[in-house]
Amino acid sequence: MKTYLSGIQPSGRLHLGNYFGAILQHVTLQESAAEHFYFIADYHAMTTVRDADRLRELVRDVAVTYLALGLDPDKVTLWRQSDVPEVTEISWLLSTVTGMGLLERAHSYKDKIQNGIKPNVGLFTYPVLMAADILAYDTTHVPVGKDQVQHLEMTQDMAGYFNNTYSEVFVRPEAVLATNDSMAKVPGTDGQKMSKSYGNDIWIFEQGKALKKAIGRIPTDSRAPEEPKDPSELLLFDFLALFLAEDELQDWKDRVQAGGEGAPGYGHLKQRLIAAMDETFGPAREKREQLLSDPAEVDRILARGAERAREKAQATRDRALAACGLR
Ligand code: ADP
Ligand code: TRP
Repeated sequence: MKTYLSGIQPSGRLHLGNYFGAILQHVTLQESAAEHFYFIADYHAMTTVRDADRLRELVRDVAVTYLALGLDPDKVTLWRQSDVPEVTEISWLLSTVTGMGLLERAHSYKDKIQNGIKPNVGLFTYPVLMAADILAYDTTHVPVGKDQVQHLEMTQDMAGYFNNTYSEVFVRPEAVLATNDSMAKVPGTDGQKMSKSYGNDIWIFEQGKALKKAIGRIPTDSRAPEEPKDPSELLLFDFLALFLAEDELQDWKDRVQAGGEGAPGYGHLKQRLIAAMDETFGPAREKREQLLSDPAEVDRILARGAERAREKAQATRDRALAACGLR
């Protein structure tokens, strides 16, 4: 039986990259006959969030977002990472078989530093904790965005080092990417990867004036609508591709490419994008409001999830401790 697992950091409001790269996959996969584990990576978020109240609020926000977008707690185990402290024990065990060189090659660490995040040891060893998250639950498949593929390869390496050093304790997992390439790596309003930490993101639940403003930030140029343009050079089309059916998308592209009287201007394309977001997320916005008004229910779901998750992680931790002579 397959076991799917993934995590999302509560380090900011969730954006279109999180939705199309990760959450949409999670919600779709929950219908398949397999085990499904999804958690809120609050230990990981500590590498960047330094305010206790804000962290608590963001954890709740990720839970509410997941549930509003359709994650079903009867089909899926949903919990808060720090409710299963066994992962930090497993993380230590893995760190003792992991070479510095492996971590030094991590793109995500290098990117974060380049974007001005001050490095701490936790940020550097982040992939080890992530490997522990995955290996603790005998995960076989990890649905994530493209940016996490290297972390998955590192997880496979760490499982291999441990198993080779001691005995076959850990199952080696593989990454599962959105089949649609534009979803596996969603660009931000500046064209680089959309990320909470780069200030280039569009919040899933943005609406009204704020949504208009957010979409307004997608850069365009001063060329007139009549002037023929190559749609593949327009960032706006990367966003439209996330929402529109193939036929409709092609039609807009053809008109932009042809130019002349029937060609849409940038404002027109942006309006279509806003309408598409309203259609896609309208029902989830309402569900979100309901969930926000019933925090006790969200707490119950997370507590139930933690209990189930913990049982599994404890069994793996015990196996790992025994393998390396600590029991
Ligand atoms: P962020 O980079 O904004 O902090 P996270 O690291 O918490 O987001 O990512 C949570 C999930 O969302 C991961 O599976 C990640 O691969 C996915 N994800 C994040 N940004 C994008 C993006 N721009 N495109 C596709 N998937 C993404
Ligand atoms: N590193 C992931 C991210 O930034 C979040 C994460 C933590 C994760 N642990 C995980 C994802 C385990 C998948 C599996 O997006």
